[in-house]
Amino acid sequence: MVIEEPVWREVAKVGNVPASDPLEVGIGHMAFILVRLGDDIAAYQGTCPHQSARLAGGTVIDGWLHCPQHRAMFRLLDGFVVRGGSCQRCGATNYGSRQGRFFCPTRQRP
Ligand code: FES
Repeated sequence: MVIEEPVWREVAKVGNVPASDPLEVGIGHMAFILVRLGDDIAAYQGTCPHQSARLAGGTVIDGWLHCPQHRAMFRLLDGFVVRGGSCQRCGATNYGSRQGRFFCPTRQRP
């Protein structure tokens, strides 16, 4: 069995991520949102696990991401959900930034 290593792609400049709103980025058919957590930036799946609303239209308040559709609240620390239509966590990732640029993995070759 061959395990293919992901290719890391730059998806945003760190300075382009707003202080209070999610920034939507994409690699191929995959969409993510980037959110500021103090000095750090975290990436989450781009659509809500409930009915696939675009989370880029959501709001960030006190460490929680609010889905724009049915108001599910996802804790930015780990994606934990506390209310709204969703009973699933929002997929948080540990992708990272380097030298002012934010990277996400993909299996697509350039
Ligand atoms: S689509 Fe997000 S809570 Fe329903």
